Amino acid sequence: MIKNTLKDSLQKSIELIDVNLTLKGPSGNVNILHNISLSICEGSSVAIVGPSGSGKTSLLMVMSGIERVTSGNILVNGEDISTMDEDQLSVYRRDNIGIVFQSFHLIPTMTALENIMIPLDFAKIENSYTVANEVINNVGLSHRSHHYPSQLSGGEQQRIALARSFAVRPKILLADEPTGNLDNENSKHIIKLLFSLNKQNMSTLLLVTHNSEIAKHCDRIITIEDGHVLNDIKS
Ligand SMILES: Nc1ncnc2c1ncn2[C@@H]1O[C@H](COP(=O)(O)OP(=O)(O)OP(=O)(O)O)[C@@H](O)[C@H]1O
Ligand SMILES: [Mg+2]
Repeated sequence: MIKNTLKDSLQKSIELIDVNLTLKGPSGNVNILHNISLSICEGSSVAIVGPSGSGKTSLLMVMSGIERVTSGNILVNGEDISTMDEDQLSVYRRDNIGIVFQSFHLIPTMTALENIMIPLDFAKIENSYTVANEVINNVGLSHRSHHYPSQLSGGEQQRIALARSFAVRPKILLADEPTGNLDNENSKHIIKLLFSLNKQNMSTLLLVTHNSEIAKHCDRIITIEDGHVLNDIKS
């Protein structure tokens, strides 16, 4: 079964097969994801929606390899990340994944430009300074390059976080409510950026959102409820 899926998945970006996630809570084990099977095509945009606590963030965490599945397999371009050790997983993340969280996770003691240079340096990209300058320009913030996160507005910090995630042109971008803390104007700007970068880089976008208008912009909407896939609609 896995062999066949392996062959099929070569054209697919991400394949989840019977994924289960159980974590230890204060009062025993909690079953968080139940038998999730999904195929996500390369370059597509997928909205992940569902009530609070339904498992959306957990789903992104297992796809990034930050959280290990309890059972099941996750194939990314045919490679099974569920059997990788920690070193292999960190290389997988470096080479494939960009993550944008709801809170920006910028390093406070580094300037905007230095924050963007982190993944570039980690990936040993030689002209990281030039690339970081290009990327900061793409998000319209070159005039803020030498500012520290505390000197930037929430919207600006999120644009820097987005620039940092996209700097290495990851094949897969995981965005967990990236506009959750922003006002309407800044949200629109971030979403526009996400979709234009998704198209320019042909990267696969998985976007957790509570906003149905934003979800409708995606190629596909997956609804998670109580750790199950409730609905999977192509738009
Ligand atoms: N480390 C953990 N240990 C135990 N339970 C956890 C852990 N992380 C998450 N959970 C539980 O797993 C369930 C799913 O959490 P998750 O964060 O994936 O939900 P979500 O859909 O992203 O919710 P929200 O919309 O509020 O962000 C919740 O019931 C949560 O309490
Ligand atoms: Mg969440």
